[in-house]
Amino acid sequence: MKTTTIAAILSAALFALSPSAATAETGSGGVVNEFADGSVTREEGLTNWQTYYEVASHPRCSNCHVGASNQPMWTGPSYGASLGKARPHGMNVNAGESRIGVETLMCSTCHTTLSGPDPDANAEPHAAPRVAGAWQLAPVEAEWFGKSSSYVCNQLRDPERNGDRSIREVAEHLDHDVILHWAWNPGGGREPAPHSLQMAMDALMKWAAAGTPCPAE
Ligand code: HEC
Ligand code: HEC
Repeated sequence: MKTTTIAAILSAALFALSPSAATAETGSGGVVNEFADGSVTREEGLTNWQTYYEVASHPRCSNCHVGASNQPMWTGPSYGASLGKARPHGMNVNAGESRIGVETLMCSTCHTTLSGPDPDANAEPHAAPRVAGAWQLAPVEAEWFGKSSSYVCNQLRDPERNGDRSIREVAEHLDHDVILHWAWNPGGGREPAPHSLQMAMDALMKWAAAGTPCPAE
C-alpha cells in the first residue's frame, strides 16, 4: 500500500517535470506543438497557411511535387532561371506513372541512396542530390508546382489527396521525411526552403487549430 502511494507520488512528480503534455517528440528534433481547437483565429490560421504555402511552393519542395506530366523540375535561381519560371529536369528525365522512373531510367541511377545521414553529401554544385532514402516524385495528387495557395490548401486538407493523413500526421511527416531535411539544407549552392522545419510544423498545427481555412481563389 505504502509503496503504491510512493510510486504514485513519484510518477506524478515525474509527470510534472516532463515537458508539457501538449508536445511530443518526433523524428529528428522537430516537435509537434499542439494548439487547442479554436485558440487560433481564422485570420491567424490564414496567415499560418500562407507561411506553409511559402515553403510548399518553393522550388526545393515543388520541383518534386509535380502533376501528371511526371516531369521533375529544375526551377529556381541555382538552375539559372528566375523563381517564377518553370524549367523541366534536363536529359529528358521522366518519372513515369511509377514516379521513380522504372519505365525509363530510374531516378536512383543518378540520385544514389546514402546509407545514412551525411551533411556533406550534396556539397558539390550541380551534382544530383542524394538523401538516405529513395529519390522520387511526390504522389500525383500532391501537385503543388505552379499551383495557387488556394489549390494547395484544399489539396492538403483533403484526406483523399494527402495520403489519408490528419494535419497532425502531415506535420509529423515533415519531420520524418529525409527529403525534407535535405530541402532545408540542400548544399551545392541551392537556396534552402524558407522558414524552418519547426516553423513549417507549427504553421500547419496552428492552421489546423483554426479549422484549416483556405484563401479564396
Ligand atoms: C525528391 C522529391 C521531393 C521533394 C524535394 C519534396 N517532396 Fe514532399 N513528397 C515526396 C514524396 C515521394 C512523397 C510521398 C511520401 C509519402 O507519402 O510517404 C511526398 C509527400 C509529401 C507530403 C505528404 C502529404 C501529401 O500531400 O501527399 C508532404 C506534406 C510533403 N511531401 C511536403 C514537402 C515539403 C514541405 C517539401 C519541401 C520542404 C517537400 N515535400 C519536398 C517527394 C518530395
Ligand atoms: C541522368 C542522371 C539523372 C537522373 C536519371 C535523374 N536525375 Fe534528377 N538531377 C540530376 C542532376 C545532375 C541534378 C542537379 C542538377 C543541378 O543542380 O544543376 C538533378 C536534380 C533534380 C531535381 C532538382 C532538385 C532541386 O534542387 O530542387 C529534382 C526534383 C530531380 N532531380 C528529380 C529527379 C527524379 C524524380 C528522377 C527520376 C524520375 C531524376 N531526377 C532522375 C540528375 C539526374
